Amino acid sequence: MMFSRLAVASITKRQFSHTVSNATKIAVLGAAGGIGQPLSLLLKLNPFVSDLALYDIHGAPGVGADLCHIDTKSTVKGYLSEYDGLQKTLDGAEVVVIPAGVPRKPGMTRDDLFKTNASIVRDLAKAAAQHCPTAHILVISNPVNSTVPIVAEVFKKFKVYDPKKLFGVTTLDLVRARRFVSELRESDPASEELIVIGGHSGHNFEGQELDNLCKRVQFGGDEVVRAKGGAGSATLSMAHAAAQMTNSLLEAMSGKSGVVQCSFVQSDLYPECAFFSSQVELGQDGVEKVRDIGKINEYEENMLKVCRAELAKNIEKGKTWIAANW
Ligand code: NAI
Repeated sequence: MMFSRLAVASITKRQFSHTVSNATKIAVLGAAGGIGQPLSLLLKLNPFVSDLALYDIHGAPGVGADLCHIDTKSTVKGYLSEYDGLQKTLDGAEVVVIPAGVPRKPGMTRDDLFKTNASIVRDLAKAAAQHCPTAHILVISNPVNSTVPIVAEVFKKFKVYDPKKLFGVTTLDLVRARRFVSELRESDPASEELIVIGGHSGHNFEGQELDNLCKRVQFGGDEVVRAKGGAGSATLSMAHAAAQMTNSLLEAMSGKSGVVQCSFVQSDLYPECAFFSSQVELGQDGVEKVRDIGKINEYEENMLKVCRAELAKNIEKGKTWIAANW
């Protein structure tokens, strides 16, 4: 039997079982990009989301028109910069996810993106500080180690900085670590309880196998950049990782307890690193507690030393740049 689309629409008025009490508006900035599109799709499927506002310098209305036909409860709207699009995107947003910016090409480091992405993130942070100053901000745009401090400084200038609500999205490190470890152990990735700090995983591996594993987690992004041959960096796995991080935050915001994620947040763990990626306990207002990294072995201690020195420089780079390029 065949139904026309209209007939089907009129006879099947669906009852949505919406068990989530909180209605949350989410803004995605850079929504028409390689990460932005699949991330917006995953957020459209998330029952915590009531309104999905998509912004990009081009393409966002089309992505919005496409996604808004999906039969989940949330509304979707795509905006460009014209007609106050950015302001409309941000007004009332409780969570802002930022994947705007250029990705790496083969041979580039994340730091090579700094020049372009620093000013993109700065401008979007200025708009967020003005239009949704109490929103949780999730920064994906690389280099995260420097773009997150830039957002912090912008929010400080506007006197609306709340360190509990600023996150650098490092979930992909954990997603990769779970996958790569499960390949070696022939296990289910979901059962792998790992912690990644500064791109490092703690597990019962030794010698060359451990070296290879740590390197693969740290340089997993390069694998994808090379395989895509200049057409971009990780987008689908990143969208999955960012959707996972966003969902954890939404769960915690809705009142669920015991939600923990690894994220790059303001941290007291190491004096030279104002921000550090480690396990974070999430609550209704964002970061509730930054967990201590726990006991680590000598191998991990040595990696951490290298990581802290490099990270301190990345953070300082972001702070120095925004001071001169406000
Ligand atoms: P893409 O180039 O496919 O998409 C970026 C989007 O940002 C484009 O649609 C572009 O129009 C938009 N855009 C540029 N300037 C903008 C502005 N001022 N306002 C709003 N939108 C703007 O890049 P892709 O692959 O989506 O990557 C985005 C960023 O995410 C890159 O910086 C990349 O390095 C980073 N990334 C971060 C990861 C992480 O683990 N945190 C992993 C992979 C990528």
